[in-house]
This record gives sequence, structure tokens and C-alpha cells, in this order.
Amino acid sequence: MKASYVIGNWKLNPATLGDVQALASALTAGTGRCQVGVAPSFVHLSAAKAALSAGIWLGAQDIAHKSTQTGAFTGDVSGAQLADAGAQFVIVGHSERRAYHGESDAVLAQKITHAFASGLSVVFCIGETKDEYQAGKTLDVLAAQLQVVADFASQITADTDGALPKLLIAYEPVWAIGTGLTPTFAEVEAVHRFISETLAAMQVFSPILYGGSVNDTNAETFVKSPLIDGVLVGGASLKADSFARIAAAF
Ligand code: G3P
Repeated sequence: MKASYVIGNWKLNPATLGDVQALASALTAGTGRCQVGVAPSFVHLSAAKAALSAGIWLGAQDIAHKSTQTGAFTGDVSGAQLADAGAQFVIVGHSERRAYHGESDAVLAQKITHAFASGLSVVFCIGETKDEYQAGKTLDVLAAQLQVVADFASQITADTDGALPKLLIAYEPVWAIGTGLTPTFAEVEAVHRFISETLAAMQVFSPILYGGSVNDTNAETFVKSPLIDGVLVGGASLKADSFARIAAAF
């Protein structure tokens, strides 16, 4: 049975430690083929780790670009620090980091290098803006963004045997994030097929998740495609019952 992945990106939420503990302790691990993970903010990693049920993966939302585990990098957090706090994966390339922090492909490649050297898995996000979507440039944009992972092909193995994969790709159309809008099922399938073929040509083997306004209603649709290996969830991952229903769908 093919594994599936439901990962919550908590972004800059929840506001208080008490809320983090309440949310983390209310989550339940996936059952069957579905693996569940969540990515709180840096300052909440340890508290979330302590409150999460066994079997739920913990991730961070960012990592320093320099592959140094200590040093003069104000505001940065190293892979060793993340792992020490209990993180097993890190999100890299989210459109909010690209847009608000100007993260370039070169920086993203450095972050992946750092994460892998620290023993962390990577959820690598790609996606087109609304303008790019409307101009019919989606596949060109994604092909360019995917070039970043080509250099890591030799480090990524296809057979993960139930473990957290070394690399997961998350297709998140920027215009679908937090808007309630989603591409059609056929559009998502076509894009996932393209990503899969592009990765295969690079000899990179990775699950491909969809992200962007996923909720406990539309998850039922996405799960129907063998091309969609799971979802990366923002807003709906902040409600334990909604997140559980999404995980149950997968
Ligand atoms: O990383 C997940 C995210 O960008 C999607 O957010 O709130 O649209 O589910 P949301």
C-alpha cells in the first residue's frame, strides 16, 4: 500500500504556548497508510514535541542557509538545533519565505544542503503566482523551481520503508494559499503528473503533496488521485478536528 502524508504548517500560529500545547495534544497520529506531521514555529518546537502523540512527525518552518551548526548568524537556527529540539523535517521554499524574505534558488539549495547534512528531511514547496497561472506559465515556473532539487538526486532514495522520506515536494499554487480557491482536480492531477515526470528525469524520487486551501471537505477529492501523495495544510491544520478528518481521508 502506497504511503500518504498529511502535514500541517502552523505558520505564525498559535499565539500562545498554552494554545500550542492544547493543539498538539489534541492531534492524533495517522492510521493505516497515512503519516502525519506538523510544523510549529521555532519557539514552540520543544513544547509541541512534548505534547504530540508518538508517531506524529515534528518539523520546522525554516533553517539557516549556512551549513554551520553554531556561529555568528543572528536570528538563524541551525539544523543541529532543530534536531535537538525534536524536529525531523523542515519546510524549505514556501512561497511566503520566497516572497517576504526574498529567498532565491541559491539560498534554497543551501538550506536543503544544511537540512540533509543535519539528518533532517525536507518538504520543498513550489508553486506559481496568480499572474503566472493566468498567463499559462505554471509548468515553466515549476520546472525552473524544481531545478533546485536536481543536485540532490544522489542523496534521495525511492524506498523509504515507512520512514519519513528524505524529500517531499509540495505543490502549492500561491493564489490558492489561504484564499479558499483551489485549482480543479484535473489541474492538480496534470501538474502532479508533470512534477513526477520532471523529478523522474532528474532521478529524484519523492512523494508529491498538494497544498493550498485544503480542508476537511475537499480532501476527499484530492485523495482520489494516485498522483497526489498527500497534502500540506495551513489554516485547517490549526483545528485538531478538521486536521484529523483530513488525515482520515488519506
Ligand atoms: O503550507 C501550507 C499553506 O501554504 C497552505 O495554506 O491556509 O491555504 O491551507 P492554507
